[in-house]
Amino acid sequence: MDKLVVHGGPVLHGPIAVSGSKNTALPLMTAAILAPGITTISNIPELRDVHTFSNVLRVSGAYVDYDAEAHEITIDATRIGHPEAPYELVKQMRASFYMLGALVGRRGKARVSMPGGCAWGPRPVDLHLRGLEALGATIELDEGYVVASTPRGGLPGGTFRLEPSSVGATVNILLAAATAKGGSRIENAAMEPDVIVFGQMLQAMGAQIHGLGTTTIEVEGVRHLQPVEFANTPDRIELGTFMALAAMTGAPGVPFEIANTAPEHLGEAFIEAFKATGAGYEVRGTSVIVTPPETIRPVSIETGVYPGFPTDLQQQWTVLMTQADGPSTVTDHIYLDRFAHVPELNRMGVRAVVKGNVCHIDGGQRNSIQGAQVMSTDLRGSVALVMAGLVATGDTHVLRVYHLDRGYEALEDRLKACGAAITRDVYEENVVPV
Ligand code: UD1
Repeated sequence: MDKLVVHGGPVLHGPIAVSGSKNTALPLMTAAILAPGITTISNIPELRDVHTFSNVLRVSGAYVDYDAEAHEITIDATRIGHPEAPYELVKQMRASFYMLGALVGRRGKARVSMPGGCAWGPRPVDLHLRGLEALGATIELDEGYVVASTPRGGLPGGTFRLEPSSVGATVNILLAAATAKGGSRIENAAMEPDVIVFGQMLQAMGAQIHGLGTTTIEVEGVRHLQPVEFANTPDRIELGTFMALAAMTGAPGVPFEIANTAPEHLGEAFIEAFKATGAGYEVRGTSVIVTPPETIRPVSIETGVYPGFPTDLQQQWTVLMTQADGPSTVTDHIYLDRFAHVPELNRMGVRAVVKGNVCHIDGGQRNSIQGAQVMSTDLRGSVALVMAGLVATGDTHVLRVYHLDRGYEALEDRLKACGAAITRDVYEENVVPV
């Protein structure tokens, strides 16, 4: 397996460039299934998830060609002969569940493995299923697979209220609704930029969608969608990650440029919290300029749906707050158990405890974090461990770095260019028999 060895201490400098969004790339790739013909999507990051998802599309009958250098994916969905997403692939990546809505939309039937839980507990899909039922699909469970079908003549369409608001369910329902016979309405729909960009691609394909970016989305079903050329948006979570990283590893007072960004997608809550730390934040064209402060002020945050503080950035925030000059808390309301990185940070001497869905972080840990061997448990948790390693004394070995590779393209190369001392090594995991 691969690990990253991070030698703590160097002061980092910009620029660093943001990749295309992972969380948008996968829904965009799914949308391509809806239109017979060749769809091309640019700014697709080279990530394990993109390769896995390409295989999901191939199983259904699509031809997929990914040009890693150009970051461009070509999907020929002329024939979708096998409306299925198997367990072997879905268990690797929950986004494969988007195939349910896409295959219902394209073929009127689908057989898609139920995803399991994940590192931070159960992640239900009941809203995806009830949403498709509300549109008129029949849903059955068969040996771990969701089997969906539409009435003869097509999916009627319908109204569904999401409670709570869900990014995943909004995407899945939109995929099915775009080519339904009638109109559909999603209430309490997700307003995340991920959903907006995805909806814009569907619109470019010919879908009739109104209300993107609001809590009520209305769709008038159309008979056919056209293949398109579409550009993916920059990754907002990577931007937030690099902002936190720049504030804690950059030289105080020296501007640190983060390039290729779409800062309008970050949401107010994150930007407000970031500014409250004392860090400078300035948008210059498509770059964000962060000026690290002399002293990082403690700022407590609570995650929420967009434009709230993203759940995908709370782990990085936890590490930033260890560097603040006072105590703070990080509360996750979206996923109550998403703190598997904290016990690993504790191994590095970080003083933070989790009570319920709240992580309490001691401030004033600027020179007290120590390098250690730590285990990645999930994507955002692993980048948090790398960040802690950058400010630790000595070496931090971040094991099971495949989690990180799911969401950050060549992170160590980009950080090295900023002055970090970081290498990738292969190691063998010793499993002690019990
Ligand atoms: C969530 C984040 C998303 C992030 C992703 C991966 C939000 C609103 N969404 O998306 O930004 O990129 O994690 O880290 O912050 N739920 C149900 N039933 C369902 C679907 C969802 O109860 O069928 C619940 C979830 O348990 C969760 C909430 O609704 O509490 C939000 O769900 P959703 O946005 O779909 O979660 P993800 O797609 O995992």
